[in-house]
Amino acid sequence: MMSNYSLATSTWGEEELSAIQAVIDSDMFTMGKYVAEYEEQFANFFGSNYALMVSSGSAANLLMIAAMFFTKDETRKLKRGDEIIVPAVSWSTTYFPLQQYGLKVKFVDIDRETLNIDLEKLASAITDKTKAILCVNLLGNPNDFDKIRNLIGGRNITLLEDNCESMGATYKGKYAGSFGLMGTFSSFFSHHIATMEGGCVITDDEELYHILLAIRAHGWTRNLPKENLVSGIKSDDPFEESFKFVLPGYNVRPIEMSGAIGIEQLKKLPGFIKERQDNAKKFVALFEKHEFIQIQKETAESSWFGFSLVVNESAPFSRKQLVEKLQKSGIECRPIVTGNFLKNKDVLKFFDYEVYGSLENADYIDTHGLFVGNQQISIKDSIELLLTVIDG
Ligand SMILES: Cc1ncc(COP(=O)(O)O)c(C=O)c1O
Repeated sequence: MMSNYSLATSTWGEEELSAIQAVIDSDMFTMGKYVAEYEEQFANFFGSNYALMVSSGSAANLLMIAAMFFTKDETRKLKRGDEIIVPAVSWSTTYFPLQQYGLKVKFVDIDRETLNIDLEKLASAITDKTKAILCVNLLGNPNDFDKIRNLIGGRNITLLEDNCESMGATYKGKYAGSFGLMGTFSSFFSHHIATMEGGCVITDDEELYHILLAIRAHGWTRNLPKENLVSGIKSDDPFEESFKFVLPGYNVRPIEMSGAIGIEQLKKLPGFIKERQDNAKKFVALFEKHEFIQIQKETAESSWFGFSLVVNESAPFSRKQLVEKLQKSGIECRPIVTGNFLKNKDVLKFFDYEVYGSLENADYIDTHGLFVGNQQISIKDSIELLLTVIDG
């Protein structure tokens, strides 16, 4: 069936192809100057001191959690068994590093309107045992960071952000991803920018940045500055420093082509976000008062990854019927990310976890929700088609 409304289209043009060619011409394919330049521009764009590019958003999440275990600062260091709060709806690799590092995961319900963590439930879920909150900005929508900061108050709880779906979203003029001690991004195809595979971690914290530098590449010292907060002062002997390992790390480096493509994509990002937000205006205008469909409520300025549609209680059709209708009309759609992640019983066997209260909203969107795509080009006709198909 031909697609009349696809989830995503390519964000690439001649510039990205030339960027790839430039890397080919240089004959240097492993992580190098293009990745470094991309990181610098990425950090500048999002107003953060440091950015570290990695091979995916999932790798960014993994390094973010790992770095919390390797910090020397005992006041924030995470240890096995520590409690971390997460929303019950996100992506699988938001959660997996938490399991891999032996954290006790406390799942909290989402808000049915914003689709982000329910702030009232979060308020009562926080206890003396809570060491960190991993916020997820779902489908482009930033969390209410003032409220979350207030809930944390003077307590020693680290805020981390999975911003893999919300590049370019802002809250009170500041970019989502820059509110947590660290924030992660994805540049997988269909995201706001595409390096095809790719991710980033941003932080203002120098020690965490140095840890990230080491654990991105083999846990070695090679990429660390001469004076650094992981190994101290490196020796002047390049032979000795070339294979010196200081942290139990990974190899999740990006390739040089991803960096070169990313530089071109970042230039286009403001335009991409504007188009997405323009499409959203159309979507909201058509659906905000719909009798049977509830759409996502913006907390601040969403970058609108996609458009969620949740079939409400009074609708004369089920989600299944809606999906069939959309599919017949060539409108691609997907579940609202993992839906209620807790339904994945097989993988949960490996977790040390607790469910805080009921997950009624996560359950509801799991069985009644879906999302359609948004793009960096005008898709206003497709959005009109969507309404016609739903009402037809
Ligand atoms: C919330 C969230 N976190 C993490 C990821 C992982 O990103 P990647 O696909 O680049 O590994 C995704 C993927 O879309 C996501 O939606």
